[in-house]
Amino acid sequence: MKIGRTLPALVFGGLVSFGLVLYATEDHPSALFKEYCAKCHGEDGTANTPKGKQLMAQDMTDPEFQAEKSDADLIKVVTNGGEDMPPFGKKLTKEQIEGLVKNDVRGFGKKKAK
Ligand code: HEC
Repeated sequence: MKIGRTLPALVFGGLVSFGLVLYATEDHPSALFKEYCAKCHGEDGTANTPKGKQLMAQDMTDPEFQAEKSDADLIKVVTNGGEDMPPFGKKLTKEQIEGLVKNDVRGFGKKKAK
């Protein structure tokens, strides 16, 4: 019977990819970014999503953008919102927002540079 071999292979394959997904979540972008930000900014930060395009969200891998803005600028926008960027000051803690800016937003800049 074929299924006797296929099923374990499927289960194993599933476990491996699940593990990879978990690993990636812990790394970059963070689970928090995926939950709250990726809808518009995309998991790769390029805002190549329907919502991101519609609102013309910032491409976070753009080195000019990374160079122009200070951490404090970005933390302010995420906390208070921008033109079309929703405010997260009430939804997330200061530490979470700081982490999102320093690890996730800045991380997209580093990814491109490599
Ligand atoms: C509803 C869509 C949407 C979501 C969700 C969203 N953003 Fe944005 N974001 C935008 C748009 C649109 C802009 C473009 C600038 C503006 O509107 O002020 C932006 C801009 C930004 C900027 C750049 C600000 C600047 O100074 O140019 C940062 C940083 C940012 N977002 C971070 C985040 C983080 C972190 C999250 C998740 C906590 C998030 N965004 C969630 C739509 C979104």
